[in-house]
Amino acid sequence: MDLHQIIYTSVCAEGVSYLDFLDLVKTADRNNKQRDVTGILAHGGGKFLSGLEGPTEAINQTFSKICKDRRHSEVQILSYDAVAERAFPDWGLFLINLDQPHHKRRGWPKGKYAPGEELFFPDDPRLAFALLWDLRSAWKPKELPKAA
Ligand SMILES: Cc1cc2nc3c(=O)[nH]c(=O)nc-3n(C[C@H](O)[C@H](O)[C@H](O)COP(=O)(O)O)c2cc1C
Repeated sequence: MDLHQIIYTSVCAEGVSYLDFLDLVKTADRNNKQRDVTGILAHGGGKFLSGLEGPTEAINQTFSKICKDRRHSEVQILSYDAVAERAFPDWGLFLINLDQPHHKRRGWPKGKYAPGEELFFPDDPRLAFALLWDLRSAWKPKELPKAA
């Protein structure tokens, strides 16, 4: 199967609430699962950073819908690559809301991308991937020990 990965950033529209996000992610998670797309959506400081992976056609169609969504703007593709395997295989779409203190405490790699607690989504594709990878590692479901 041809797999593609896309990483993009965007700016959240004014007046979009946390409840709006939960609604958005519920629909997106369901859609993505139906299309064999998996990924992460990080939100914080009025910005989004997302990594999505799946069959090429499904990624293209999903991203084209995302671009038309008025709940954000300034959608910027940081990378779009064919990949041999998924880096974010755990969820249809998982929201990590870094404005929520408990999400930030669990997921934010302090000092690695910006000084101290400061929130920062890198534009550099390799750093953006590394940040999504750090977030995935902090949140990924624990594997259950195998039964003896
Ligand atoms: C930042 C952001 C990320 C989104 N990510 C996805 C996504 O990964 N998958 C998806 O199906 N929709 C995503 N959406 C929502 C789509 O833009 C669109 O509203 C949705 O796919 C429409 O679903 P429907 O055709 O089932 O009504 C996202 C929207 C925003 C603003």
